[in-house]
Formats: sequence, C-alpha cells, structure tokens
Amino acid sequence: MTHIGVLTAGGDCPGLNAAIRGLVVRATAGGAKVTGIEDGWHGLMGGQVRPLGRDEVRGILTRGGTILGTSRTDPYVHGEGIASLNPTLQANGIDTVVVIGGDGSLRTAARLGEEGLPVIGVPKTIDNDIEGTDVSFGFETAVQIVTDSIDRLTTTAEAHNRIMVVEVMGRQSGWIAANAGLAGGAEAILVPEEEYDIEDLAARLIARHDLGRTYSVVVVAEGVRAPSGEQVLVGKDTTGFLRLGGVSTVIASELERLTGFETRVMILGHLQRGGTPTAFDRVLATRFGIRAAEAALAGEHGIMVASRGTEIVLVPLSEAVSVPRPIPTSRLDDARWFGV
Ligand code: F6P
Repeated sequence: MTHIGVLTAGGDCPGLNAAIRGLVVRATAGGAKVTGIEDGWHGLMGGQVRPLGRDEVRGILTRGGTILGTSRTDPYVHGEGIASLNPTLQANGIDTVVVIGGDGSLRTAARLGEEGLPVIGVPKTIDNDIEGTDVSFGFETAVQIVTDSIDRLTTTAEAHNRIMVVEVMGRQSGWIAANAGLAGGAEAILVPEEEYDIEDLAARLIARHDLGRTYSVVVVAEGVRAPSGEQVLVGKDTTGFLRLGGVSTVIASELERLTGFETRVMILGHLQRGGTPTAFDRVLATRFGIRAAEAALAGEHGIMVASRGTEIVLVPLSEAVSVPRPIPTSRLDDARWFGV
C-alpha cells in the first residue's frame, strides 16, 4: 500500500488546507495511507506526525494557514540532510513525501530527491516566483487583498492630496506588485526585476500633479532596492532567513523630498497571506492535491505538479527549481500605459 507523508514548508499561504484536503481525499480513495508531518521539515526530522484521513480534513477547504503547521527549518542547514529524515520515514513506513512548498522548500526537496528520497512537489507561494507552473496557489488571493487595499488607500490619498507608497511582498519577483498595481490603477509600480531612477519617478509624479491630478499611488515590491542600491532588511529570523521590509519608507521620504508632496506609507505585510483563499485558489490547490495523490499512487516521484493552460501536469522538480520566475516585461509594459 502506498504511504504518503505530507508536509507544508516555508511561509504559509491561502490554499494550503485545500491542497492537503485534495491530496488526502484522492489518495485515500485510491487505497493509500496518508500521514501528516507537522511544522515542515522540522516535524520530519523530529518524528512529529499524525494520521490524516477523510475525517481529519473535513471543513478545512476554506481555512487559511495550514492544519499541519509550517517552518523554515531546512534539513541541510539544521540537520544532516536525508539522514535526519530517515528515522521518521522508516518508523512510520512512509514511502513518498509530498512537499507543499515555495522555491526554498522545493529546492530542498529536489536535492533530497537526488539523494534518493521519493518526493513530489506542490508549488505554493503568494510570490508566484516558481518556474515550471503558470501560477502557484496563494498568489491570486494575495493580489485580491492588495487590490482591495489599493482601492481603499486611493480614496484617502485623493482626499488628502498625497502620494501613497504601498509596499507588498515579493522577494525576487514583482508579480504581486505588477498585478495588483494594474488592477488597482497605480501610477507607478517598482519591482525587483527592474532598476528605477528615483529622480525620474519624482519628475513623473510632479508632471502628473501639474496636469491637475492631486494624488498618486506607488506600489513597491519588498525586494526592490533602496535608491542607494541597498536591500532594506528588518533582520533575520531564527532559521537565518532574511526578513525584507521597509524599503517603501526610504522611497517615500525621497519622493517627499524631491516632489514636495506629502507622502504616506502602507506596508501590507502578512495581511497578504492571511485568511480564506479565493475560489480560484481553492480550485487550483485542490487540483494540485488531487494530481499529487495520483502521481504518488502511480509510483511517480522527482516531479512537481504544475498548472499549464487549463491542465494540471507533472514537470521535473529539478527544472522547476532551477531559476526564479520573473514577471515578464510585457506585463509591466501593460501596466505602464496607465502610469503618470
Ligand atoms: O516567500 C513568501 C513570503 O511571503 C515573502 O514574500 C516574504 O518576504 C516572506 O515570505 C516573509 O516570510 P515570514 O513570514 O517568515 O516573515
């Protein structure tokens, strides 16, 4: 009998529970056993597991977060690699590990796969920066939250004749910034993939205000560098993961100085990752979970489930984690038509 161990690793995102539910329902219907591994790789290293059956996943489709818990623990950084996982795998008879993770966790999964761990990846991240899939679940929900926020921030910016600088997540890819900026009608969108000139941006904002507009909304991805060229960090977490945040404050004060317009900052932070997934993300996550279960039942591993067009397909895990996935320039160009 196939015995799947499933874990969620890295930052959480809306849709994780929908994916776990999809996996468990399909796998158990196919005769497999599923064990939930708690707190990501940390639980696999420490033997924190519990059985997952149909009853354990009832009522979780709409819930944010993850019923399994998550962490940024990495067996190569905090343990002895695959050797730290073997005791839990052997003690429980787990023969396939489904890793629901972002770029970092899937890279770890790919490396473990090369060393012999039978692993299946499921891409999740609000950042949408995983190669090999058209989209990751969590992204659409985050874009909706940011768009709603921009809508609200626009009315207060307009009332006060201000520039509003809105900082969104996106460590190396500007997907959230570009899509929510376009959906919210932002005047400028700054993304990690592109350099920007703060003086040029300020001049464009002045030109816009000279034309009679009294406010502007600037969306900034957290991974954008400050005008000085430095990355702005909050610090490191307990696993050594760099915490980005605050570049909008630097950009806002420069814009205020260069334009003379009153400027405010909104860092949306973890609001973007919390709460219930949109219908799109519920469907995508459920289909990813189902496809991962089917792959495990068929004895496949070293692969990642992926969305391509209207289908859910399997792609080699190594390919999917080889490079980060940037926002296409064409998407940014589309947004620029509505700029200053
Ligand atoms: O990688 C996903 C992400 O949401 C990034 O956009 C963000 O920089 C990071 O996680 C924040 O992580 P944490 O919750 O550990 O602060």
